[in-house]
Amino acid sequence: MADLGVRLAGVALRNPFLLASGIWGESGASLSGAWNAGAGGVITKSIGSTPRPGYPNPTIEVYETWGLLNAMGLPNPGIDEYPREIEAARRAGATVIGSVFGGDEEEFARLAHQIEATGVAAVELNLSCPHAEGFGTEVGSEPEDVERIVRAVVRSVRVPVIAKITPNAADPAGLAEAAERGGAAAVSAINTLRALAIDVTLRRPVLAHGLGGLSGAAIKPVGLACVWQIYRRVKIPVIGVGGIRTGLDALEYIMAGARALQVGTAITFGGVAVFGRLNQELSDRLDQLGIARLEDAVGAAHAAHL
Ligand SMILES: Cc1cc2nc3c(=O)[nH]c(=O)nc-3n(C[C@H](O)[C@H](O)[C@H](O)COP(=O)(O)O)c2cc1C
Repeated sequence: MADLGVRLAGVALRNPFLLASGIWGESGASLSGAWNAGAGGVITKSIGSTPRPGYPNPTIEVYETWGLLNAMGLPNPGIDEYPREIEAARRAGATVIGSVFGGDEEEFARLAHQIEATGVAAVELNLSCPHAEGFGTEVGSEPEDVERIVRAVVRSVRVPVIAKITPNAADPAGLAEAAERGGAAAVSAINTLRALAIDVTLRRPVLAHGLGGLSGAAIKPVGLACVWQIYRRVKIPVIGVGGIRTGLDALEYIMAGARALQVGTAITFGGVAVFGRLNQELSDRLDQLGIARLEDAVGAAHAAHL
Protein backbone atom coordinates (compact mmCIF):
# COMPACT_ATOMS: atom_id res chain seq x y z
CA MET A 1 0.00 0.00 0.00
CA ALA A 2 1.37 3.41 -1.00
CA ASP A 3 2.66 5.72 1.75
CA LEU A 4 0.24 8.66 1.97
CA GLY A 5 2.15 10.56 4.68
CA VAL A 6 3.41 14.03 3.75
CA ARG A 7 5.40 16.78 5.39
CA LEU A 8 3.86 20.17 4.87
CA ALA A 9 5.97 23.14 5.88
CA GLY A 10 7.44 21.15 8.78
CA VAL A 11 4.10 19.65 9.85
CA ALA A 12 3.84 15.85 9.48
CA LEU A 13 0.45 14.82 8.08
CA ARG A 14 -0.65 11.19 8.23
CA ASN A 15 -2.31 11.68 4.82
CA PRO A 16 -2.79 14.69 2.52
CA PHE A 17 -6.54 15.17 3.03
CA LEU A 18 -7.36 18.18 5.23
CA LEU A 19 -10.83 19.29 6.22
CA ALA A 20 -11.31 22.61 4.36
CA SER A 21 -12.17 25.72 6.35
CA GLY A 22 -15.84 26.57 6.83
CA ILE A 23 -17.29 23.11 6.30
CA TRP A 24 -18.01 20.81 9.23
CA GLY A 25 -15.68 22.76 11.53
CA GLU A 26 -18.11 24.54 13.86
CA SER A 27 -17.21 22.66 17.03
CA GLY A 28 -14.59 20.53 18.69
CA ALA A 29 -16.88 17.55 18.21
CA SER A 30 -17.25 18.09 14.47
CA LEU A 31 -13.51 18.73 14.00
CA SER A 32 -12.74 15.54 15.94
CA GLY A 33 -15.34 13.68 13.88
CA ALA A 34 -13.49 14.55 10.66
CA TRP A 35 -10.19 13.50 12.22
CA ASN A 36 -11.63 10.20 13.48
CA ALA A 37 -13.07 9.54 10.01
CA GLY A 38 -9.56 9.68 8.56
CA ALA A 39 -8.70 13.31 7.73
CA GLY A 40 -4.97 14.02 7.72
CA GLY A 41 -5.71 17.26 9.58
CA VAL A 42 -8.56 19.65 10.16
CA ILE A 43 -8.80 23.37 9.42
CA THR A 44 -11.11 25.40 11.62
CA LYS A 45 -13.78 27.65 10.23
CA SER A 46 -12.39 31.14 9.70
CA ILE A 47 -12.44 33.04 12.99
CA GLY A 48 -12.59 36.81 13.35
CA SER A 49 -12.21 39.31 16.17
CA THR A 50 -15.86 39.44 17.23
CA PRO A 51 -18.89 37.14 16.88
CA ARG A 52 -20.63 37.42 13.49
CA PRO A 53 -24.09 35.98 12.83
CA GLY A 54 -23.44 35.80 9.08
CA TYR A 55 -25.89 36.86 6.38
CA PRO A 56 -29.65 36.20 6.51
CA ASN A 57 -30.99 33.13 4.71
CA PRO A 58 -30.94 31.89 2.06
CA THR A 59 -27.17 31.49 2.34
CA ILE A 60 -26.73 28.31 0.31
CA GLU A 61 -28.00 26.94 -2.99
CA VAL A 62 -27.32 23.26 -3.68
CA TYR A 63 -26.62 21.93 -7.17
CA GLU A 64 -26.61 18.16 -6.71
CA THR A 65 -24.31 17.36 -9.59
CA TRP A 66 -21.74 20.10 -9.44
CA GLY A 67 -21.56 21.86 -6.13
CA LEU A 68 -22.72 24.70 -3.91
CA LEU A 69 -23.24 28.42 -4.18
CA ASN A 70 -22.83 30.05 -0.76
CA ALA A 71 -22.72 33.44 0.87
CA MET A 72 -22.59 32.58 4.56
CA GLY A 73 -21.02 35.92 5.56
CA LEU A 74 -18.28 34.32 7.67
CA PRO A 75 -20.50 33.41 10.66
CA ASN A 76 -18.32 32.57 13.65
CA PRO A 77 -18.34 32.88 17.45
CA GLY A 78 -15.28 35.13 17.56
CA ILE A 79 -11.78 34.52 18.85
CA ASP A 80 -12.73 34.66 22.53
CA GLU A 81 -15.19 31.75 22.28
CA TYR A 82 -13.78 29.45 19.62
CA PRO A 83 -10.45 28.32 21.16
CA ARG A 84 -12.25 25.87 23.48
CA GLU A 85 -13.44 24.02 20.36
CA ILE A 86 -9.87 23.78 19.10
CA GLU A 87 -8.75 22.49 22.47
CA ALA A 88 -11.41 19.78 22.35
CA ALA A 89 -10.26 18.68 18.90
CA ARG A 90 -6.64 18.63 20.01
CA ARG A 91 -7.55 16.49 23.04
CA ALA A 92 -9.05 14.01 20.56
CA GLY A 93 -5.61 13.84 18.93
CA ALA A 94 -6.39 15.87 15.82
CA THR A 95 -3.81 17.88 13.91
CA VAL A 96 -5.56 21.26 13.85
CA ILE A 97 -4.82 24.24 11.61
CA GLY A 98 -6.45 27.50 12.71
CA SER A 99 -8.03 29.74 10.07
CA VAL A 100 -8.46 33.48 10.67
CA PHE A 101 -9.80 36.45 8.74
CA GLY A 102 -9.26 40.15 9.34
CA GLY A 103 -9.63 43.56 7.76
CA ASP A 104 -5.98 44.61 7.88
CA GLU A 105 -2.54 43.30 8.83
CA GLU A 106 -2.84 44.28 12.51
CA GLU A 107 -6.08 42.36 12.90
CA PHE A 108 -4.71 39.31 11.09
CA ALA A 109 -1.54 39.35 13.20
CA ARG A 110 -3.45 39.67 16.46
CA LEU A 111 -5.89 36.89 15.61
CA ALA A 112 -3.11 34.59 14.42
CA HIS A 113 -1.24 35.19 17.65
CA GLN A 114 -4.35 34.41 19.69
CA ILE A 115 -5.18 31.25 17.78
CA GLU A 116 -1.57 30.07 17.98
CA ALA A 117 -1.95 30.02 21.76
CA THR A 118 -4.43 27.12 21.42
CA GLY A 119 -1.64 24.86 20.13
CA VAL A 120 -2.58 24.74 16.44
CA ALA A 121 0.02 23.22 14.13
CA ALA A 122 -0.24 26.09 11.64
CA VAL A 123 -2.34 29.16 10.84
CA GLU A 124 -4.18 29.63 7.56
CA LEU A 125 -5.07 33.18 6.49
CA ASN A 126 -8.38 33.56 4.71
CA LEU A 127 -7.36 36.19 2.15
CA SER A 128 -9.92 34.97 -0.30
CA CYS A 129 -13.60 34.92 0.74
CA PRO A 130 -15.41 36.37 -2.31
CA HIS A 131 -18.49 37.78 -0.55
CA ALA A 132 -17.49 39.38 2.79
CA GLU A 133 -17.26 43.16 2.71
CA GLY A 134 -14.03 44.45 4.22
CA PHE A 135 -12.48 40.98 4.39
CA GLY A 136 -11.40 38.19 2.07
CA THR A 137 -10.83 39.25 -1.52
CA GLU A 138 -11.15 42.89 -0.50
CA VAL A 139 -7.85 42.55 1.36
CA GLY A 140 -6.39 39.65 -0.64
CA SER A 141 -6.63 40.62 -4.30
CA GLU A 142 -3.52 42.79 -4.60
CA PRO A 143 -0.02 41.32 -4.24
CA GLU A 144 1.19 44.21 -2.05
CA ASP A 145 -1.66 43.66 0.43
CA VAL A 146 -1.07 39.90 0.56
CA GLU A 147 2.65 40.37 1.14
CA ARG A 148 2.11 42.96 3.86
CA ILE A 149 -0.49 40.90 5.73
CA VAL A 150 1.51 37.69 5.54
CA ARG A 151 4.68 39.47 6.71
CA ALA A 152 2.87 40.95 9.72
CA VAL A 153 1.47 37.54 10.68
CA VAL A 154 4.79 35.75 10.22
CA ARG A 155 6.32 38.25 12.65
CA SER A 156 3.63 37.56 15.25
CA VAL A 157 3.62 33.74 15.33
CA ARG A 158 6.08 30.85 15.44
CA VAL A 159 3.94 28.25 13.65
CA PRO A 160 3.92 27.98 9.84
CA VAL A 161 1.67 30.50 8.08
CA ILE A 162 -0.45 29.36 5.14
CA ALA A 163 -1.96 31.96 2.79
CA LYS A 164 -5.24 30.97 1.15
CA ILE A 165 -5.34 32.54 -2.29
CA THR A 166 -8.35 33.74 -4.27
CA PRO A 167 -9.00 32.60 -7.83
CA ASN A 168 -10.97 35.85 -8.36
CA ALA A 169 -7.93 37.84 -9.41
CA ALA A 170 -6.12 38.40 -12.69
CA ASP A 171 -3.04 36.51 -11.55
CA PRO A 172 -3.55 34.16 -8.59
CA ALA A 173 0.02 32.87 -8.97
CA GLY A 174 1.24 36.45 -8.48
CA LEU A 175 -0.63 36.49 -5.16
CA ALA A 176 1.10 33.25 -4.20
CA GLU A 177 4.48 34.80 -5.04
CA ALA A 178 3.59 37.77 -2.84
CA ALA A 179 2.71 35.40 0.01
CA GLU A 180 6.05 33.66 -0.42
CA ARG A 181 7.88 37.00 -0.31
CA GLY A 182 6.01 37.80 2.89
CA GLY A 183 7.32 34.61 4.48
CA ALA A 184 4.39 32.19 4.05
CA ALA A 185 5.32 28.56 4.62
CA ALA A 186 2.67 27.33 2.15
CA VAL A 187 -0.22 28.56 0.02
CA SER A 188 -3.70 27.07 -0.37
CA ALA A 189 -5.50 27.42 -3.69
CA ILE A 190 -8.36 27.97 -4.19
CA ASN A 191 -11.21 29.55 -2.26
CA THR A 192 -14.62 29.74 -3.94
CA LEU A 193 -15.23 31.46 -7.28
CA ARG A 194 -17.44 34.55 -7.25
CA ALA A 195 -20.79 33.46 -8.67
CA LEU A 196 -24.52 34.26 -8.87
CA ALA A 197 -27.88 32.54 -9.26
CA ILE A 198 -31.15 34.34 -10.13
CA ASP A 199 -34.66 33.36 -9.03
CA VAL A 200 -36.65 34.45 -12.10
CA THR A 201 -40.03 34.20 -10.34
CA LEU A 202 -38.97 36.54 -7.55
CA ARG A 203 -36.83 38.54 -9.98
CA ARG A 204 -33.95 38.65 -7.55
CA PRO A 205 -30.78 36.74 -6.71
CA VAL A 206 -31.35 33.38 -5.03
CA LEU A 207 -29.02 34.14 -2.12
CA ALA A 208 -30.02 36.92 0.26
CA HIS A 209 -26.58 38.50 -0.14
CA GLY A 210 -26.76 38.39 -3.93
CA LEU A 211 -23.28 37.34 -5.00
CA GLY A 212 -21.83 34.16 -3.53
CA GLY A 213 -18.97 31.72 -3.90
CA LEU A 214 -19.08 28.59 -6.04
CA SER A 215 -17.49 25.36 -4.78
CA GLY A 216 -17.51 21.68 -5.64
CA ALA A 217 -16.97 19.67 -8.81
CA ALA A 218 -17.58 22.64 -11.12
CA ILE A 219 -14.48 24.47 -9.87
CA LYS A 220 -12.00 21.59 -10.00
CA PRO A 221 -10.51 22.57 -13.38
CA VAL A 222 -10.05 26.16 -12.13
CA GLY A 223 -8.37 24.94 -8.94
CA LEU A 224 -6.11 22.65 -10.93
CA ALA A 225 -5.05 25.49 -13.22
CA CYS A 226 -4.24 27.72 -10.24
CA VAL A 227 -2.21 24.99 -8.52
CA TRP A 228 -0.40 24.27 -11.79
CA GLN A 229 0.58 27.92 -12.29
CA ILE A 230 1.47 28.51 -8.65
CA TYR A 231 3.68 25.39 -8.52
CA ARG A 232 5.74 26.82 -11.37
CA ARG A 233 6.27 30.16 -9.67
CA VAL A 234 6.88 29.47 -5.97
CA LYS A 235 9.13 27.15 -3.99
CA ILE A 236 6.86 26.81 -0.96
CA PRO A 237 4.38 23.90 -0.91
CA VAL A 238 0.95 24.27 -2.47
CA ILE A 239 -2.25 22.90 -0.91
CA GLY A 240 -4.82 22.06 -3.58
CA VAL A 241 -8.50 22.69 -2.90
CA GLY A 242 -11.59 22.85 -5.08
CA GLY A 243 -13.95 20.09 -6.11
CA ILE A 244 -12.02 17.10 -4.78
CA ARG A 245 -14.47 14.18 -4.55
CA THR A 246 -12.43 11.12 -5.53
CA GLY A 247 -8.94 9.68 -5.29
CA LEU A 248 -8.53 10.48 -8.98
CA ASP A 249 -9.33 14.17 -8.36
CA ALA A 250 -6.77 14.13 -5.57
CA LEU A 251 -4.06 12.61 -7.76
CA GLU A 252 -4.72 15.18 -10.48
CA TYR A 253 -4.10 17.95 -7.95
CA ILE A 254 -0.97 16.23 -6.67
CA MET A 255 0.46 15.77 -10.15
CA ALA A 256 -0.37 19.45 -10.88
CA GLY A 257 1.85 20.33 -7.92
CA ALA A 258 -0.15 20.05 -4.69
CA ARG A 259 1.59 18.51 -1.68
CA ALA A 260 -1.57 18.41 0.42
CA LEU A 261 -5.28 18.79 -0.30
CA GLN A 262 -8.42 20.20 1.27
CA VAL A 263 -11.88 18.76 0.99
CA GLY A 264 -15.03 20.82 1.59
CA THR A 265 -18.15 20.44 -0.53
CA ALA A 266 -17.71 16.67 -0.92
CA ILE A 267 -18.27 16.46 2.84
CA THR A 268 -21.50 18.42 2.59
CA PHE A 269 -22.77 15.76 0.20
CA GLY A 270 -21.12 12.62 1.61
CA GLY A 271 -20.33 13.33 5.27
CA VAL A 272 -16.92 12.80 6.83
CA ALA A 273 -16.91 9.17 5.68
CA VAL A 274 -15.53 10.69 2.48
CA PHE A 275 -12.09 10.84 4.12
CA GLY A 276 -11.81 7.06 4.48
CA ARG A 277 -12.88 6.53 0.88
CA LEU A 278 -10.48 9.19 -0.45
CA ASN A 279 -7.53 7.61 1.36
CA GLN A 280 -8.38 4.20 -0.05
CA GLU A 281 -8.94 5.46 -3.60
CA LEU A 282 -5.75 7.52 -3.66
CA SER A 283 -3.72 4.64 -2.31
CA ASP A 284 -5.21 2.31 -4.95
CA ARG A 285 -4.44 4.81 -7.73
CA LEU A 286 -0.83 5.15 -6.62
CA ASP A 287 -0.46 1.35 -6.40
CA GLN A 288 -1.85 0.97 -9.94
CA LEU A 289 0.74 3.44 -11.21
CA GLY A 290 3.59 1.81 -9.26
CA ILE A 291 4.19 4.95 -7.15
CA ALA A 292 5.30 3.90 -3.66
CA ARG A 293 5.20 7.30 -1.94
CA LEU A 294 2.74 10.10 -2.47
CA GLU A 295 5.55 12.62 -2.30
CA ASP A 296 7.07 11.09 -5.46
CA ALA A 297 3.96 12.13 -7.42
CA VAL A 298 3.97 15.81 -6.40
CA GLY A 299 4.23 17.90 -9.58
CA ALA A 300 4.75 14.80 -11.74
CA ALA A 301 2.67 16.23 -14.61
CA HIS A 302 5.14 19.09 -15.07
CA ALA A 303 8.05 16.83 -15.99
CA ALA A 304 6.40 15.59 -19.18
CA HIS A 305 5.01 19.01 -20.12
CA LEU A 306 7.04 21.17 -22.50
C1 LIG B 1 -20.40 26.73 3.02
C2 LIG B 1 -18.95 27.08 2.83
C3 LIG B 1 -18.29 27.83 3.79
C4 LIG B 1 -16.96 28.17 3.63
N1 LIG B 1 -16.32 28.89 4.60
C5 LIG B 1 -14.99 29.18 4.47
C6 LIG B 1 -14.30 29.85 5.52
O1 LIG B 1 -14.86 30.18 6.57
N2 LIG B 1 -12.97 30.11 5.32
C7 LIG B 1 -12.29 29.75 4.19
O2 LIG B 1 -11.10 30.01 4.08
N3 LIG B 1 -12.93 29.08 3.19
C8 LIG B 1 -14.26 28.80 3.31
N4 LIG B 1 -14.90 28.11 2.31
C9 LIG B 1 -14.14 27.69 1.12
C10 LIG B 1 -13.65 26.25 1.24
O3 LIG B 1 -12.75 26.10 2.33
C11 LIG B 1 -12.96 25.79 -0.06
O4 LIG B 1 -11.87 26.62 -0.35
C12 LIG B 1 -13.91 25.81 -1.27
O5 LIG B 1 -15.22 25.41 -0.90
C13 LIG B 1 -13.43 24.91 -2.41
O6 LIG B 1 -13.31 23.57 -1.99
P1 LIG B 1 -14.47 22.44 -2.22
O7 LIG B 1 -14.85 22.51 -3.67
O8 LIG B 1 -13.85 21.15 -1.80
O9 LIG B 1 -15.60 22.86 -1.34
C14 LIG B 1 -16.25 27.77 2.45
C15 LIG B 1 -16.93 27.00 1.49
C16 LIG B 1 -18.24 26.66 1.65
C17 LIG B 1 -18.91 25.83 0.60
